[in-house]
Amino acid sequence: MDGNGRWAQKKGKIRTFGHKAGVESVRAAVRFARQTDIQSLTLFAFSSENWKRPEDEVSVLMELFNLVLNSEVKKLNKNGVRLKVIGDVSAFDDKLVNKIRKAETLTAENRQLVLNIAANYGGRWDIVNAAKQLATQVQQGEITPEQIDESLFDAKISTHQVPELDLLIRTGGEHRISNFLLWQCAYAELYFTDVLWPDFNEEVFQTAVNDFKSRQRRFGLTGEQVS
Ligand code: IPE
Ligand code: MG
Repeated sequence: MDGNGRWAQKKGKIRTFGHKAGVESVRAAVRFARQTDIQSLTLFAFSSENWKRPEDEVSVLMELFNLVLNSEVKKLNKNGVRLKVIGDVSAFDDKLVNKIRKAETLTAENRQLVLNIAANYGGRWDIVNAAKQLATQVQQGEITPEQIDESLFDAKISTHQVPELDLLIRTGGEHRISNFLLWQCAYAELYFTDVLWPDFNEEVFQTAVNDFKSRQRRFGLTGEQVS
């Protein structure tokens, strides 16, 4: 979800105005995912590197996260959305962590859509975290190093409960992954758009999905083999 700051600055407003406006785009993205055959949507809300932004911007983002949890969880639950927060939440204050855990428990049985919110998330963190868990299992004699394969590793990755990542959309015009779902990106289709996040809506999402559907995914095979 990139481009909030530039969107605001183009309007002569402060950056945080863009973050606030971006909440409506989050609603639109969730609505779209729910109404189509998308099973899982992961939104990059706050990266492990975002802490280094100016203090007031970080505090507005935290406040916004709190407010959105307060106002949206009930609705998400009513609409059959399962909410998960992925990332190192231990860095957030206890009240926020409690709110997150309560929302996850409340929505745990919902099956309409899995909504992952990546908060204090980093793709490298995710991989290191998986490695640590496997190392602990080896140390405790539960598995041997030889048993570690891609599927065992994948089971420790934060998005393990949802299907393989198909499509990664980045708004805001940059052509990079910026430490998002690194492990999960292996065979994902990448889609970049100049649309700034507060201008993202169902139509933009649909255009990205249409583009995705027009691609041939070969997974290392030849075109003849997959068609
Ligand atoms: C949103 O966009 C990303 C978040 C950290 C919430 P930015 O704040 O990165 O916006 P730009 O890139 O400065 O326009
Ligand atoms: Mg940015």
